[in-house]
Amino acid sequence: MIAVPIAASMTKEALKDMKEASKSADVIELRLDCIKDLGLEILLAKRIKPVIVTTRSKAEGGRSNISESRRIKLIEKAIDLGAEFVDVEFSLGSEKIKRIISIRGKTKVIVSYHNFKGTDEKEIIAKYEKIKRLKPNVIKIVSFANSIDDNAVMLRLLKTAKKEGKDLIAFCMGEKGEVSRILCNFFGSFLTFASLCKGKESAPGQLDVKTLKGLYRINEFRNGEVFGLVGNPVKQSKGILIHNDAFKKLEMNKVYVNFLVEDLSSFVKSFRKLIKGFSVTIPFKREIIKLIDGVDLTAGKIGAVNTVINENGKLIGYNTDVKGAINVIESKMKIKNKRVLMIGAGGVARAIGYGVKGKGGRLIILNRTVSRAKSLGNELKCEYGGLDKLNKIDKVDIIVNATSIGMVPKVNEMPLGKDKLRRIIKKGALVFDSVYNPRKTKLLKEAEKLGCNTADGYDMFINQADEQFKLFTGRRLI
Ligand SMILES: NC(=O)c1ccc[n+]([C@@H]2O[C@H](COP(=O)([O-])OP(=O)(O)OC[C@H]3O[C@@H](n4cnc5c(N)ncnc54)[C@H](OP(=O)(O)O)[C@@H]3O)[C@@H](O)[C@H]2O)c1
Repeated sequence: MIAVPIAASMTKEALKDMKEASKSADVIELRLDCIKDLGLEILLAKRIKPVIVTTRSKAEGGRSNISESRRIKLIEKAIDLGAEFVDVEFSLGSEKIKRIISIRGKTKVIVSYHNFKGTDEKEIIAKYEKIKRLKPNVIKIVSFANSIDDNAVMLRLLKTAKKEGKDLIAFCMGEKGEVSRILCNFFGSFLTFASLCKGKESAPGQLDVKTLKGLYRINEFRNGEVFGLVGNPVKQSKGILIHNDAFKKLEMNKVYVNFLVEDLSSFVKSFRKLIKGFSVTIPFKREIIKLIDGVDLTAGKIGAVNTVINENGKLIGYNTDVKGAINVIESKMKIKNKRVLMIGAGGVARAIGYGVKGKGGRLIILNRTVSRAKSLGNELKCEYGGLDKLNKIDKVDIIVNATSIGMVPKVNEMPLGKDKLRRIIKKGALVFDSVYNPRKTKLLKEAEKLGCNTADGYDMFINQADEQFKLFTGRRLI
């Protein structure tokens, strides 16, 4: 279920938001502490969907300083008026909570614990146990995420509650808690919260109901397999759109989320038992190797992993960048015996370089930092040098841009000038740009003007994602 909180400051506005939210939410949370001219009777009389009535003090993250006795009266009134749920803070104390539970009638009582500073697993478990003893209908535990790993604490707690047959709402607050807001329902949370629309969030990290339902299919299944992208940054990636869309089309109970990771080692420890697989991006493609249990032949040779799968409890690394790039190049021109100039000597260059050599291409690596070109050149046993060599090299069949030059926002830049490009290319040459944002880079536009065949980074991205999807699911993306 998805609950949409209504945090309007006036009853009229709350009624309007409630009507709007009822179109997409399963439950409406009425935050009484936010409403200055509170008309509880009219709000409950006009409800279309079940409501959770709650009122919080400032110390509990609420907006007004209503006294405790007044807050309890409001909760009792909501029970009298037949609200489906009331939510009270654990800090109210056992006696007062027990009294509310004793008069609840058909109303279900949620007892909540919030920690606005951080997530401490021991403390969270202790609070869960204490609230459990009060026998409420639903337990709610929410804490602030200071790191991505805090989300795993909540997902583990949800697993425990599921085993014990308890209804629990558990997730993390804050930007770093976004993942648990998405995943909690898959792990059995009674519900998760979402904003009515973008811009109407009542807490940081809260996603809008359209995204939770449309992109992540929150209400469609539970106990599915979780995949994701591990990197820093991750926002730019199109993986969540591509993989989730394919899961949806193929009606698979799987979801893909972004994991913005700071400490890779601690992430792997926290999540290895919770997720089925993940994509790896900048800056972790090499660092991940020492944290997993094995790598396949290609990833081992390259020394870079972009996909990890949990195979019977063992994390195994793969590299789909190589196939992704080589498939795209070879769809336009066979590499064997061709002279291939690659500009760049970073992570992507490494994968493409191995692929080109594997296919029998004659590779030349030029890079701004000569020492990096030398190191990769020696490893791949090929010609290498600095960018000044662009003035001297013989004509080539294929040019590969494996640098970030030409990527947004600097879309007018090229890894080599027009004149150099004209001088270097053989007739009918292929120019491949690994940059995919924008899809048609300045380099590709100029290459087209010179009559070259071109291939773009978006196709490489889709190809590597397709290989990844095959590892995730055994099925093809495209
Ligand atoms: N299509 C796909 O699926 C896909 C996937 C991942 C990445 N990419 C693209 O590949 C690019 C490189 O990614 P990466 O992982 O290889 O990054 P990386 O490891 O950081 O390497 C960056 C490369 O770009 C060079 N470079 C950066 N700015 C430069 C400049 N102003 N002038 C000259 N050279 C410059 C660097 O040269 P130095 O060694 O001198 O710093 C290095 O060779 C990304 O920006 C992205 O556009 C595409």
